[in-house]
Amino acid sequence: MRPSALPIEEALHHIDEAKQGEVYMAENPVPEDSGKRFYMESYGCQMNFSDSEIVASILKDHGYHATDDHQTADLIFINTCAIRDNAEQRVRNRLQNLQAVKKSKPGALIGVLGCMAERLKSKFLEEEKMVDIVVGPDAYKTIPALINEAETGQKAVNVMLSLEETYADINPVRLGGNGVTAFISIMRGCDNMCSFCVVPYTRGRERSRDPESIVAEARDLVDKGYKEVTLLGQNVDSYLWFGGGPKKAFKNLTVAEQESSVNFAQLLAMVADISPELRVRFSTSHPKDITDEVLHTMKAFDNICNYIHLPVQSGSSRILEKMNRTYDRSWYKMKIDTIRQIIPDCGISTDIITGFCSETPADHKETLTMMEYVKYDMAYMFVYSERPGTPAAKKYTDDIPETVKKERLMEIVRLQNQHAEERNRQDIGKVQKVLIERVSSKSDQDLCGRNDQNKMVVFPREQYQPGSYVNVLVESCTSATLIGKVVI
Ligand code: 5AD
Ligand code: SF4
Repeated sequence: MRPSALPIEEALHHIDEAKQGEVYMAENPVPEDSGKRFYMESYGCQMNFSDSEIVASILKDHGYHATDDHQTADLIFINTCAIRDNAEQRVRNRLQNLQAVKKSKPGALIGVLGCMAERLKSKFLEEEKMVDIVVGPDAYKTIPALINEAETGQKAVNVMLSLEETYADINPVRLGGNGVTAFISIMRGCDNMCSFCVVPYTRGRERSRDPESIVAEARDLVDKGYKEVTLLGQNVDSYLWFGGGPKKAFKNLTVAEQESSVNFAQLLAMVADISPELRVRFSTSHPKDITDEVLHTMKAFDNICNYIHLPVQSGSSRILEKMNRTYDRSWYKMKIDTIRQIIPDCGISTDIITGFCSETPADHKETLTMMEYVKYDMAYMFVYSERPGTPAAKKYTDDIPETVKKERLMEIVRLQNQHAEERNRQDIGKVQKVLIERVSSKSDQDLCGRNDQNKMVVFPREQYQPGSYVNVLVESCTSATLIGKVVI
C-alpha cells in the first residue's frame, strides 16, 4: 500500500513517520447503518492524522461506516500533505493506483483532503481527473454537502480557510489507535511565516481552541481508558485563548480579555490536573516562543512528560535569518541551556533542513556543531524542497545541487545516529517508567511503550497489558530503542 521506493530523506526518517499512508479503521462501528462505507488514508504530520479523526466523526454522524478495504468503499478519502514535493508525489502515485478501484466501482467517490487540496485547489480536478471532491483543512464540516453534490455527478470543492474554525465542537473518532494514546488539536494554522514553509498558506491564520473543550476532550479520553494525550499545534507556545478568533498578542488584549485569557503553560496545567494517571505531551514548540513558565509547569507536574520537540532547522545564524526563523544560533543555545537547567533530564528532539538556499559548507558545519552542542535524542532530517508561492521560492534561488543536499543530509543523519545511541546508552542500568502502548511489531513476545523522554522501550511481554505503567530496567539499546525487562 505504501509506495515502495521511498526517497532517501523519507527512508531515513523517524519511525513515527513510517506510519504515513497506513489505513486506519474506526474503533467503533456507527450506530445507524446508511449502508455506505468510507476508507481513509492519511499522510503527513500528526495534525493531519488528528484531522482525519475529525473527518471520521463528521462522516460517522452522517451514517457512514469505516472500512479498511478501499476496493469496496463508497468513499475514498486521502488526507494529504504538501510540506515537501515528495510528500505530494506520493499522493499522486497513490491516486494513480486508485484509478483501478474507480473503474471497477464506478459509483465510488474519491476525495482529496488537507494541505495539498488547499495548495492546489480546483487545479487538482484538472490534474487528477478521477478526483471528485477537494476539501481544505478548514472546510471539513461541509463534507456531507460536498458528498451530496458529488453524488449528482458534479465536482465538489471547498477550500475556504477560516479565521475561527477549531472544530472544538467535534468529538474525534479515534482511528486505528491503540486505545492508550491520543492526539488533541489545541490550535490551528500558523502565523510564523518561515520562508521555506507552505503551512501558513495551506492551514491559514493561527487560532486557538477553547480550553474548556480541550479539557472536556481529554477527560472523555480518560473516561474511555486512555492514558496519554499529546496536545497538538504548529506552534503550541503561542497558544492563547481570549474568547476565540485569530491570534492576538497578549499585550494587545483588553484588560478583561487578559484576565480571563489562558496561555499554553496554563492550558498544560489544566490538562495535567485532570488525572495524575494521564500523561501529557505536546508538539511542536518554537524556539522563539517557548517560555520559562512552560518549563516550570512541566517541572511542577510529574505527569507532564519531560520531552520537547524544538526544531532548530539550521545551526547557522545567517541561514536562520534567511529562513525567517526570528532567532539566531546563540538564542537557540540559550533556550537549550535553560531547558537543561530547569528540567535536567528533558528529552530533546529537533527538525533539520539541509541544503537551504545559499547554504555554504561553513553553514552546514554550524548545523553539525549545533548538533554536537545539543546532542539531540532524536531528529527529523530533511533536504530542502522548494515550495511554490513561499517567500523562499519568491526571493531566493534553490541553488544547492541535489547531490550536495543529500551528502550533507547523510552526514547529519550519521552524526544524529551516533548521538541517539550515545544518549540511549546513558539510560542502560536505569529503571524507566514506561506506559505500555502495544505488542512490539518485531516480536509478539514483546511489548513496547515510551518512557517519559519519549524513547521507545521494548521488553518481554509476560503478563503485562497495554495501558498500564511498568518500571523497566534498561539492559541494552540501539540508536532507536531501549531494551530491558520489567522490574517491580
Ligand atoms: N523543505 C524541507 N523541509 C521542510 N520542512 C518544512 N518545510 C520544508 C521544506 N520546504 C520541515 C521543517 C519543519 C518540518 C515539519 O518539516 O523542518 O519543522
Ligand atoms: Fe502537516 Fe504541514 Fe504536511 Fe500540512 S503541510 S500535513 S501541516 S506537515
